[in-house]
Amino acid sequence: MKNYFSRRNFIKLSALSGAALGLKGITPTLSKDKILEKIDNLSSAPKQIGKSLIEFSVPPIKQVKVAFIGLGNRGIEHLQLVDSLCPEKAVITAICDVQQIKVDAAIEELKKSGHGQNPKVYAGTLDIWKEMIKRDDIDLVIISTPWEDHTPMCVLSMQHNKHVAVEVPAAYTFEDTWKLVNTAEETQRHCMMMENVCYGDEELWLLNMAQQGVLGTLTYAECAYIHNLRELLFSKDYYYNMWRIRHHMNRDGNHYPTHGLGPVAQYMNINRGDSFQSLVSMSSFQASLDEYSKQIESTNEFFNKSGYKHGDMNNSLIKTANGKMILVQHDVVTPRPYNRINALAGTKGYHEGYPSRLSLVDKGHKWLDETDHNQLIEKYKHPLWDKLKAGIEKYGGHGGMDFVMIYRLIDSLNNGWFLDQDVYDAASWSVVIPLSTLSIELGSAPLKFPDFTRGRWNENRELGILKNY
Ligand SMILES: NC(=O)c1ccc[n+]([C@@H]2O[C@H](COP(=O)([O-])OP(=O)(O)OC[C@H]3O[C@@H](n4cnc5c(N)ncnc54)[C@H](O)[C@@H]3O)[C@@H](O)[C@H]2O)c1
Repeated sequence: MKNYFSRRNFIKLSALSGAALGLKGITPTLSKDKILEKIDNLSSAPKQIGKSLIEFSVPPIKQVKVAFIGLGNRGIEHLQLVDSLCPEKAVITAICDVQQIKVDAAIEELKKSGHGQNPKVYAGTLDIWKEMIKRDDIDLVIISTPWEDHTPMCVLSMQHNKHVAVEVPAAYTFEDTWKLVNTAEETQRHCMMMENVCYGDEELWLLNMAQQGVLGTLTYAECAYIHNLRELLFSKDYYYNMWRIRHHMNRDGNHYPTHGLGPVAQYMNINRGDSFQSLVSMSSFQASLDEYSKQIESTNEFFNKSGYKHGDMNNSLIKTANGKMILVQHDVVTPRPYNRINALAGTKGYHEGYPSRLSLVDKGHKWLDETDHNQLIEKYKHPLWDKLKAGIEKYGGHGGMDFVMIYRLIDSLNNGWFLDQDVYDAASWSVVIPLSTLSIELGSAPLKFPDFTRGRWNENRELGILKNY
């Protein structure tokens, strides 16, 4: 695979472009025009190798053969949810984790449920997953490993003719977002990023309202991942090899935009009539991890460490091609309550989450009272939440959204439908990460989004979740 944005060029470019934007301490060796041209080129598409995957589907797979890479906090949850659909809709043929203890725990879970799953087990080395994906009894690989492994695992799995469903974010570099798109197109495989929040009850009724014009013409949204992970980041046991805090050490920007942004992208028809056009990003300075690292036990590798690059609070602003604006926030270190905001504004109404409130143009300047609010929700609730009530109550997962997502993924493959989230969504939502990092490096400069659909974003298309269910 061609290296579209080599790391060396990228570093050189970001240093040089600082000068163009009047930042201190950088020697300008290129003309301003040349630098701006180079920044512009970051958004241009590399040569297409395969065919477009817009509304891509494969013939129905009556019983989906599923394999797993990564069975940590998240992977074991996915395993249990897929198992709940076995053997009628799926079968678990292989599982893999570098840690033997994780595959042992997974096998125990499968025994407890009694759904008859007896997968082949791969464990013990960092590369053993490469052996597993060569098997010919796998249709779909579910990947729940640390962020740095997502793209390589997706790419090689697709090259072995497997569909992939990967945890969020799918990628965090420009190069990797294009690798996902080009490999999926070349191999004609599904590559879905499992943005579970798109399947939340609130997100789905708000999607229905937005699509049916209840809020009028949409103009603005606010969304976030605000989740105090301080203790978990420093835990020696929670994340494998403390992978997550290492990202805070290495880069600024919004590390985790998709829980807030995925649903907003769907409300706003991103890649289906509108597209993310440009982004500016700004972070506060970093203080929380420096301070907290002094309080942890002295045997911890991060004890008394400083110099984390990731600012405590990141705000990124996105403008869409049709003129909408989106604020995306990221804060995983401040001691404050969890919040994804989920605010959506239109010419006829407004929604804000945490807790959910609605105001409509013909109801005055106040929030709707409980009766009106509940009546609207009842009217616009997605039928899947009623249809899957028993499974949601039994298996749950973030209030049920995880069960709905896994059900939808497997059910769509069973039926030969195109998936709710395609590789262009995975790339467009994930590319906010490198864009925000670079924008900050360039003094909050506005940067253009790549168009992963190669010009097809302005085709009005319905989402799978609103069409086939
Ligand atoms: N969507 C959500 O709500 C949600 C929630 C939690 C985590 N996540 C995402 O899930 C992913 C995993 O997070 P987590 O909390 O489960 O982390 P984790 O550290 O608990 O799990 C990662 C697992 O991958 C395994 N692993 C690491 N390298 C491997 C390799 N080369 N081969 C095989 N196995 C390997 C580890 O042993 C570990 O069991 C992350 O991308 C995270 O962002 C999403």
